[in-house]
Amino acid sequence: MSMREIKLCLLGDSGVGKSSLVVRFVNDKFTANLESTIGASFMSKTLVVNDTSYKFQIWDTAGQEKYRGLAPMYYRGAAAAIVVYDVTREASFQTLKDWIRELKQYGSDNIVLAIAGNKCDLEDLREVSTRTALEYAEENNAIFCETSAKTAHNVSQIFTLITQRL
Ligand code: GTP
Ligand code: MG
Repeated sequence: MSMREIKLCLLGDSGVGKSSLVVRFVNDKFTANLESTIGASFMSKTLVVNDTSYKFQIWDTAGQEKYRGLAPMYYRGAAAAIVVYDVTREASFQTLKDWIRELKQYGSDNIVLAIAGNKCDLEDLREVSTRTALEYAEENNAIFCETSAKTAHNVSQIFTLITQRL
C-alpha cells in the first residue's frame, strides 16, 4: 500500500462549522457549542482509499475577521482546501467566493478545491439553494458537497472525493 501525506486547510466565515467538520471527520463527534477557533488548529487523520493511505494534515483556520491575514500561512503549499459556508447564512456564501478567488490567485497551482455547504440538517432555515452553489462550484472546477457536521452527512465523503483528484 502506498502512503501519501496531504496538507489540507479549511477556510470560511466564523461559525460556518469548519472545526465541527474536522472534529466529525477525525473523532466522529459533534459538540453543540464549540468555541470559536483562535489563530488555527491542527489535526491529522489517515484515510485509506483504493489501496492508498492518505495522511491528511489538516489546518483548521479561524474565521474571525481579525485572523484573516494569517490564512496564507495555512493555504500556502496546501494540496487541497475545503472552503465552507453555512447553507442558512447567505453572507457566508459571499465570503466563500472571496476565498475561492484568493486561493486561485495565491494558492498552489494544482490545489484541489472543495466547497462544503454545511448545516444542511437545518433545511427550514436554508438561505442558499443547492443549485446556486452547485453551479458556482462547477464554474470553478471545485468539488461540491452539502454537509452536516451534526448528522455526519457527506463529511468523510468530501475527503474521499478530494483523494480522487489528488
Ligand atoms: P470559527 O472557529 O470561529 O471560524 O468557526 P467554525 O467555522 O470553526 O465553526 P464551529 O465549528 O465552531 O461551529 C459553529 C457553531 O455551529 C457551533 O455551535 C456548532 O455546534 C454549530 N454547527 C457546526 N456544524 C453544524 C451542523 O452541521 N449543523 C448544525 N445544526 N450546527 C452546526
Ligand atoms: Mg473553528
